[in-house]
Amino acid sequence: MTCIHHALFATTTNVPTESSFYHRNVEPFLQNRDSERWHIFARHALAIAGFSPLTAQFLKLCIDEHTRFCDPRLRITLDQKRTFDNPLLVGAGWDKTGSAAYGLYTLGFAGEETGTVVPLPQPGNQKPRQEVKDGVCLNSLGFNSPGMLAVQQNVYRAQNLGIPLGINIGKNKETSLENAVNDYVAVLRCLYLYATYIAINVSSPNTVGLRDLQQTKFLADILQALNDTMRELGILLPLFVKISPDLTFQQLDEVIDTVLLQHAAGIIAANTTTNELLKAAYGWQGKSGGISGNDPTYKRMVLTIVDYIFSKTKGQLQVIGVGGISTADDAWNMITHGASLVQVVTGIRNIGPSIAGKINRGLMKQLDKEGIDNIINAVGIHASRN
Ligand SMILES: Cc1cc2nc3c(=O)[nH]c(=O)nc-3n(C[C@H](O)[C@H](O)[C@H](O)COP(=O)(O)O)c2cc1C
Repeated sequence: MTCIHHALFATTTNVPTESSFYHRNVEPFLQNRDSERWHIFARHALAIAGFSPLTAQFLKLCIDEHTRFCDPRLRITLDQKRTFDNPLLVGAGWDKTGSAAYGLYTLGFAGEETGTVVPLPQPGNQKPRQEVKDGVCLNSLGFNSPGMLAVQQNVYRAQNLGIPLGINIGKNKETSLENAVNDYVAVLRCLYLYATYIAINVSSPNTVGLRDLQQTKFLADILQALNDTMRELGILLPLFVKISPDLTFQQLDEVIDTVLLQHAAGIIAANTTTNELLKAAYGWQGKSGGISGNDPTYKRMVLTIVDYIFSKTKGQLQVIGVGGISTADDAWNMITHGASLVQVVTGIRNIGPSIAGKINRGLMKQLDKEGIDNIINAVGIHASRN
């Protein structure tokens, strides 16, 4: 079987260089410090700053031109009911609790994917479980989550403010693969009122066996059960399956077929990779966890998958692209290879609070350069089977 890794080529590392206040002062400070701790600190700071429109004004001091960048040409519509004012979301894992949505929105993101949310509170794996080197992150968090009821309190507020939220759902560690479907349904039932879309996480490498749920026998059941539940509740939310970048093309084809058969809206590509060669390149050989961020090989893996899904389904499935995005060029590549929305996680640490404005301003320049009137018309223009 051809593994997607073999379809890739590696290039040199590509950490963005900048001389902003963040790069001169904050980023050097973060190096060699406990990455998870400072991540939590940043999330709390954003949650506090996003407490009210007044406190959120302070956040604007951290971003370029002290204004949330917005332009109608960047507006993306998923379907008649779901519009994002730009194609950039914060990816799952950055705000597992759903408490920082307004702060992130103020920085210029269109919204966030909250989670992964599991039914019951759980602490996750043993610490230390998150480290960053040269713009690349290794994490083995393992769905540390306050549980769905606690998340419900937080996302309630974001929804009131009209901020689009993807809710990324998963299973508790102790739940067997056979019973996993019940966990996904439970989180949907608890949080559907607050979701713009649902992301089904079957690809985290940090919960034992979770990635097996990408197999048709499990995935079809989960999608079917979520569809049945939505029918019963009288709602219709777009379902997205979040996949691993370590699938073979054959496995990816099976996922695509299942997603199409079960009428899900699309695929989120991709989660972190457990590729041992990549880990070794950063001195992490043998360590558990998944890699993501600004590594050229990882970025190429994800881009290949985004392009493949878009091309194979001729745009029938929506693709949300996530993996190594930190610049407007990265986002543009992902969009022109087939992603309707893109997400950033590690890039926030690498570039700082001005990342969304920088990327969105850069996307506008690309639209002007290519003579394209709206970002929707850029989706897939460089995909291989166009
Ligand atoms: C610290 C950290 C925690 C993450 N937690 C989750 C998670 O809970 N659920 C999930 O679906 N993906 C999670 N991810 C994966 C990201 O959502 C994303 O797919 C991946 O990191 C690629 O994006 P990036 O290169 O911008 O980091 C996590 C990633 C990181 C770095």
